[in-house]
Amino acid sequence: MIRIGLVGYGFMGKMHAQCYAATGRAKVAALADVEADRRGEAASKLGCQPYESLQAMLENADIDAVDICTPTYLHEEHVIAAARAGRHIFCEKPLSLSVESCDAMIGAVEQAGVTMMVGQVVRFWPEYAVIKQLVDSGEYGRVLWASLRRLSPPATWAWQDWLADPARSGGAILDLHIHDLDFITYLVGPPSKVLSRAMPGSRGALDTAMTLGWGHAGGANSYAEGSLTMRGEFPFSASAIVECEKASIRLDITASPSLMVFPSGGAAFAPEVPSVGEGASAEAGGNVSSLGGYLVEIGYFLDCL
Ligand SMILES: NC(=O)c1ccc[n+]([C@@H]2O[C@H](COP(=O)([O-])OP(=O)(O)OC[C@H]3O[C@@H](n4cnc5c(N)ncnc54)[C@H](O)[C@@H]3O)[C@@H](O)[C@H]2O)c1
Repeated sequence: MIRIGLVGYGFMGKMHAQCYAATGRAKVAALADVEADRRGEAASKLGCQPYESLQAMLENADIDAVDICTPTYLHEEHVIAAARAGRHIFCEKPLSLSVESCDAMIGAVEQAGVTMMVGQVVRFWPEYAVIKQLVDSGEYGRVLWASLRRLSPPATWAWQDWLADPARSGGAILDLHIHDLDFITYLVGPPSKVLSRAMPGSRGALDTAMTLGWGHAGGANSYAEGSLTMRGEFPFSASAIVECEKASIRLDITASPSLMVFPSGGAAFAPEVPSVGEGASAEAGGNVSSLGGYLVEIGYFLDCL
């Protein structure tokens, strides 16, 4: 049983705790959170040892790895502390707020010789994983272009409203849009040129972002947009079109079936999408309805360890 020390018991911390339990291969043995009520809730629900700080947890807990689910502006401090304490690391996305900060974290991890994984979860989300398999199979030829979209009303759950502060969250471009930029890079490699534009929302954060990428592998081009400013009851939504030489692939998580393939000259079909961790996340809140890709991602982290 791999022993995990979780830092931050908010939306993602709760989600990860459920994932570790669902794998049956790891246990949240310790938890650090600055809020006493969250520590108490975790201790009684997970049967773990609570700590007031990551440092106290690193000094006292018997753990193999640290899972960092704290607000983004704390990732650098927490990753470097965990690496120096010789623990393996899972760090939620985005890794950090600047390239210099990411480099410092990677340097500390390399120096300590520990394993670190960053939670770019869309690669593990079942529908997106099927898109990757379809493209990699080569059956539909190369990707000509792709268009990805992720739209959300403003997040309301964040501790001390850190998500609304671009200095602490990076705004939509780093908090939300990064999912699609990561996926397109995973699918067809990095672009040779990028044009990106972000716009401030009412609270000053860069809450809407649009990115055009030219010259991915095989000459593909991409467009992605993400916004955290959708109004009223607009539902969280994510969609993608991947146009290949011999098929159009369409994903829309609000549609049923969510994933469709339209081969040229053939009948449209819905490829099988594995269902994982359905209905298990009710207690985490936030904007997702199943453990889904989070469970696959955490399983992959345990495989790596
Ligand atoms: N992969 C995804 O789909 C996804 C979704 C949401 C959030 N995230 C990422 O997960 C991270 C956490 O986001 P969240 O929505 O869970 O935030 P949250 O505000 O819900 O929870 C943050 C938790 O950290 C605790 N905390 C704050 N300072 C701390 C400290 N110094 N030491 C220990 N605990 C501390 C808070 O008390 C709170 O419990 C962010 O980096 C965010 O970008 C990823």
